[in-house]
Amino acid sequence: MESPKRYTVTAALPYTNGPIHIGHLAGVYVPSDIYVRFLRGQGRDVVFVGGSDEHGVPITLKAKKEGVQPQDVVDKYHNMIKKSFKEFGISFDNYSRTTKKLHHKTAQDFFKSLYDNGKFVEEVTQQFYDEEAQQFLADRFVVGTCPKCGFEESYGDQCEKCGTSHNATDLINPRSAITGAKPSLKETRHWFLPLDQYQGWLQEWILEGHKKDWKPNVYGQVKSWVDEGLRPRAVTRDLDWGVPVPVEGADGKVLYVWFDAPIGYISSTKEWAERVGKDWELYWKDKETKLVHFIGKDNIVFHCIIFPAMLKAEGSYILPDNVPANEFLNLEGNKLSTSKNWAVWLHEYLEAFPDKQDVLRYVLTANAPETKDNDFTWKDYQARNNNELVAIFGNFINRVVVLTNKYYEGVVPKPEAYFEVDQKILAELRAYPAVIANSIERYRFREAQSEMMNVARMGNKYLADEEPWKLIKTDEERVKTIMFVALQIASALSVLCEPFLPFTARKLRTMLDVEDPEAGGTISSSGLAWGTSEESAWERLTADKPMLAPGHVIGKATLLFSKVEDQQIQEQLDKLEATKAANQAENKAVSPQKETINFEDFTKLDMRIGTIVEAEKMPKANKLLVLKVDTGIDVRTIVSGIAQHFQPKDIIGKKVTVLVNLAPRKLRGVQSEGMILMTENASGKIVFLNPDEDGVKPGATVS
Ligand code: MF3
Ligand code: ZN
Repeated sequence: MESPKRYTVTAALPYTNGPIHIGHLAGVYVPSDIYVRFLRGQGRDVVFVGGSDEHGVPITLKAKKEGVQPQDVVDKYHNMIKKSFKEFGISFDNYSRTTKKLHHKTAQDFFKSLYDNGKFVEEVTQQFYDEEAQQFLADRFVVGTCPKCGFEESYGDQCEKCGTSHNATDLINPRSAITGAKPSLKETRHWFLPLDQYQGWLQEWILEGHKKDWKPNVYGQVKSWVDEGLRPRAVTRDLDWGVPVPVEGADGKVLYVWFDAPIGYISSTKEWAERVGKDWELYWKDKETKLVHFIGKDNIVFHCIIFPAMLKAEGSYILPDNVPANEFLNLEGNKLSTSKNWAVWLHEYLEAFPDKQDVLRYVLTANAPETKDNDFTWKDYQARNNNELVAIFGNFINRVVVLTNKYYEGVVPKPEAYFEVDQKILAELRAYPAVIANSIERYRFREAQSEMMNVARMGNKYLADEEPWKLIKTDEERVKTIMFVALQIASALSVLCEPFLPFTARKLRTMLDVEDPEAGGTISSSGLAWGTSEESAWERLTADKPMLAPGHVIGKATLLFSKVEDQQIQEQLDKLEATKAANQAENKAVSPQKETINFEDFTKLDMRIGTIVEAEKMPKANKLLVLKVDTGIDVRTIVSGIAQHFQPKDIIGKKVTVLVNLAPRKLRGVQSEGMILMTENASGKIVFLNPDEDGVKPGATVS
């Protein structure tokens, strides 16, 4: 799309089952915010929508665990998350939530439209059911082994390890997340989106149409799914938390969370449009609107295949122009994890660094996981703050503002003759906006930010080379030109840094006494206009007239950035160490590994599967059972110290693992010829090391 009329920009709706951390910010919210702030600076028509994703099984599981209602869980985290976004300057035009009436209605209408137009396949299928909990086990209520990568903790709908999306019945060894029981299969009716019918269309739209402009990581994932062949996907679930399915005979059914959540972008847009008196449909249905989804890599299949197929099936919507998904951010070398508390939570960060929102934004963009997973470290955070923001950006601005006040009482001087170096700098300055814009338009925010910093570097170097503080004694005229040029760089920075460092930009504008271009303001005292409807702030940068005209009076210097001390970094590192220690304490049941043995030692052990055929208590001993075990070789006597854990009648017929070549020994006068291998389950109960596979015969060796 060459020059779209308007933009609809979405950022993934976060699940409200926990607060948000730096990974969310780095992957989705900072990049999307940079993008929209840039567009606004360019004077484009843009709506930036978000909201909380408040349905889905993780939320009901969390509520169950805490003994509260799902609504309580979502209320708590919705408010926390919304506050964090505001605090970090994520400038949503609207932040909604999927439990709102407007959303339920929008999602239901969408479903109904597909339903009425025969876009679904209705099918009675076998779904997992937990007899004990008496409920169907949708999505994350089932865990099991991923059929693709073998990860043993895959969820019913998606594997977090390899990212594959599958149906719960594809899992190997499925178990209920509620009771741990092996689920049974029970018949139920559901509606499926026949993705197989969209295969050819997706092939053409993405694989042929977006080969060049979509990021390789996104394109690659989509290609591998499409190449593997798409299958119909159920869009309804047997659950009681969600958007009720709006058709007859669907009692007790709700829309699949991944059906309703992306429609949340649409409802959020509607809510915004109603508030500001705009037509929401233009932002979703007009061909000249550019739709961009910002997401993390685990959301690719939903935004590149399922949601587009839904939009296509509905027929009146536009499709995403791009889905610039990021990879994941790690923290000090380890995967961010909510359950292990391995994260920097935004609300906790602000307690430690109350005025450093922009610093975090800056560091997360500098290390953005744009093309591969990336690492956040506190040392790097400190270095980037002290060596880049303080030493380059902050230092340059401070010099310009302090010297202008000192030499001219804050009045922008009139330049005298330009030297070649001045002309070169001014020309370079005019070229930067296009360079930065080009990177942002291609979703390369690290590159864009580093070019923005190059402007500050250029300013710093210019002052250091020209040394106005020395020349002021000998050549006052020359200093006027130097300071005029430096002031142009400073004011350009106030526009160029705004997408990345919005809080800093505001402070800088106050310092330079230029009104908020974002609000369509003007330079106050000199009456110069930039950032208005006639001329956007970015256009103004490239125009052949100064940003700050001679005669304009700037304000006083305030501190933009301050040093982060070693002590502050140590506190953060200590906090992470404490988290590690706490996690280790939780796993204390794991005993240390024994001394290494060689392979010959191992092969000496003869372990077999056996069946217990008789069991009785050893007279006058309270710990011992006398067992007769069929080892496949023979039926032999084994004395085992498990009387306190098992009733003899309960273990007859059980399959067990037996060490058969242990030297026989006498216990209470009974010859014992082997050892039964035992272990402990999660609740500390002694259990057999159980070969629970069908068809394992006594005598089978263990190796
Ligand atoms: N809640 C999902 C997640 O955190 C993202 C939902 S994005 C939307 O992974 F498209 F569904 F809204
Ligand atoms: Zn997997």
